[in-house]
Amino acid sequence: QASETFDTDVITLPRFLINSQIQFNQKKNALNHNNKFNVVTTGEFTLLLNSLQFAFKFISQTIRKSELINLLGLAGEGISNATGDVQKKLDVLGDEIFINTMKGSKNVKLLVSEEQEDLIYFQNNAGTYVVCCDPIDGSSNLDAGVSVGTIVSIFKLKPGSKGTLDDVLRYGHEMVAACYAMYGASTHLVLTTGSGVDGFTLDNNLGEFILTHPDLKVPVQRSIYSINEGNSYYWTEQITSFISSLKDPSKQKDNKPYTARYVGSMVADVHRTFLYGGLFAYPCDKKSPNGKLRLLYEAFPMAFLMEQAGGKAVDDKGNRILDLKPNSIHDKSSIWLGSPNEIDSFLKHIQKD
Ligand code: AHG
Ligand code: MN
Ligand code: MN
Ligand code: MN
Repeated sequence: QASETFDTDVITLPRFLINSQIQFNQKKNALNHNNKFNVVTTGEFTLLLNSLQFAFKFISQTIRKSELINLLGLAGEGISNATGDVQKKLDVLGDEIFINTMKGSKNVKLLVSEEQEDLIYFQNNAGTYVVCCDPIDGSSNLDAGVSVGTIVSIFKLKPGSKGTLDDVLRYGHEMVAACYAMYGASTHLVLTTGSGVDGFTLDNNLGEFILTHPDLKVPVQRSIYSINEGNSYYWTEQITSFISSLKDPSKQKDNKPYTARYVGSMVADVHRTFLYGGLFAYPCDKKSPNGKLRLLYEAFPMAFLMEQAGGKAVDDKGNRILDLKPNSIHDKSSIWLGSPNEIDSFLKHIQKD
């Protein structure tokens, strides 16, 4: 009958969060121990996610009409952010939308944004959450209509803390949740709260994120590599030899070279890696000796999501990304993430040398 093709029982993000709250409470009571992931039990997290999803919808809408209302292009001559990126109009707008939404959510105490030099402290918020965000990731691609996104990592204030820099300069494994939105053909939301990864797609008519990729797992192996080869003259010999080994058919089990795929927006390259597998890398090089991607709001959240989906995320030396800790809020790191098989081959290669 009709209902077989027409789904009348969709799982929206709010319903998904209520379900996970109930499951978590049951699990927590059954295990009767205070797990660090108590983030989803108090309902506070559901409130925070509601604010976050509003920010994603607002940014998505703003981007999709940006050509029509002349929002493309630079914020202004020579205006750049703390890490030296030239700011686009949408970088600034996305940042403002995010700051206002987090302030309005009342349960965020501290906010780090790529587009803000300093840590933002919400004086009047009684909240216990620390949010780090990249409001528009891939903004150099914006004017070409290529997919961009928003990346978010979430920590909790240290017990008894009122909110200081100390609550932000944390180890990656102290994150309680991470998510990204990707503004592509559809608007996707990919989320983890520490027990797996779930993907949602925005239904523009309903204005709701619908669960479309429950329990997302990254493929164990895939012959795809995603790196900016334009930097290869600046790479170390070790990295150059590893990448060229992927292109050597005689070194592959199926005698086929790896395929190159590079969008230039981390969210788009990582989203493809979640769905198709393979590896994504942004190594250190002579031009960017500490790497280009920022720890708190690019490497950490993507590493947490990738590990929760059965993948791996390490730096050029093979250190687990989640075991790193930034010394300042815009610190950068090299990153290699993706299918376990591909990351293991990289680890073997660097251990061999
Ligand atoms: P952002 O737009 O937030 O500054 O991030 C850009 C990052 C990331 O999206 C992407 O993976 C990387 O820059 C691409 O860098 P290259 O253009 O140097 O390859
Ligand atoms: Mn930038
Ligand atoms: Mn970015
Ligand atoms: Mn950005």
